[in-house]
Amino acid sequence: GELTGLMVIRAYHESRGDTKRTKVIVPDSAHGTNPASAAVAGLKVVEVKSLPDGTVDVDALRPLLDDTIAAVMMTNPNTVGIFEHNIPEISEIVHACGALLYYDGANLNPLLGVARPGDMGFDVMHINLHKTFSTPHGGGGPGSGPVGVRAGLEQFLPNPRVVKHSGDDDPLFHLDFGTEKAPHALGRISSWLGNFAVELRALAYILSLGSDGLKLAGTLATLNANYVKESLRDLYALPIDRVCKHEFVFDGLADKSTGVTTLNVAKRLLDHGFHAPTIYFPLLFHESLMIEPTETESKETLDEFIAVMRDIAREAAEDPETVKNAPLETPIRKPDDTAAALNPVVTFAELG
Ligand SMILES: Cc1ncc(COP(=O)(O)O)c(C=O)c1O
Repeated sequence: GELTGLMVIRAYHESRGDTKRTKVIVPDSAHGTNPASAAVAGLKVVEVKSLPDGTVDVDALRPLLDDTIAAVMMTNPNTVGIFEHNIPEISEIVHACGALLYYDGANLNPLLGVARPGDMGFDVMHINLHKTFSTPHGGGGPGSGPVGVRAGLEQFLPNPRVVKHSGDDDPLFHLDFGTEKAPHALGRISSWLGNFAVELRALAYILSLGSDGLKLAGTLATLNANYVKESLRDLYALPIDRVCKHEFVFDGLADKSTGVTTLNVAKRLLDHGFHAPTIYFPLLFHESLMIEPTETESKETLDEFIAVMRDIAREAAEDPETVKNAPLETPIRKPDDTAAALNPVVTFAELG
């Protein structure tokens, strides 16, 4: 989705003969997929700094904006779970320089039914259906990143597309290969129409929840994240102390004297039967521990997670070696991550 969105942006600038625009600005809090997609789309990456409150520094962004900038990519709420409240001003200065504003839809969940990226000034976006719309994130399963664009940019979308050509009451769709109608359209991006099952599941989820249900999902995700944050903030370092949206980031344990790291905490969680949260991302802090409970966890599960996290903090103070040696209860103890990445064994046959 990100790659497609950036290719749409490139096609837009090229259609206007504006070929100098070869750079994309990405905040230092961005997920690695943003610079990666920009590079694959043939664009150079320029980083913009965040303020201590986690939001993009508008004063640092302003001087970077010139006629070589194709787009600014943003995630809102951003990767530290904070709503980019300066988004109207950012949208204004980005558009004034002739660039487009890209929305990384990875964090759309808390905004469901509350705010729309188009109203914030975004021109192009993708939605990670495998985050907001029911397919679980992670586990190596398929994802899907459908792309949306503001009116006027449709002509650059890839082909073939599904086009609606009759009313909402009795909709009819056809496949548009678009070569004549949309001479600027990108060609086919991936196999046929993407991961159909993920799209179908998203549609079923949207239809079954309805607009009230979706709004409740976003609100609950936000409530759950703030509940966990407030319940643990005395024991874990909270570098950005604000009301968060669906996720927040601790910078490891508050007490650093024990030498227990975020990796140790994550491994100890496995012993207690919890899937560890994202660790060492975002890169803004050394010991990032990103907690994103989502709307689906019950209060009982959240309370259990909080109790375990508190136990681990207590254990880190009283018996740090146990936490450092975790996991102790899992079938496999500590795999060598680096060797696994460099030399992956991906079939049982290879394991012998
Ligand atoms: C802000 C942001 N952008 C992009 C991604 C990448 O998404 P995916 O896991 O679908 O590759 C993530 C992943 O969590 C993310 O948090």
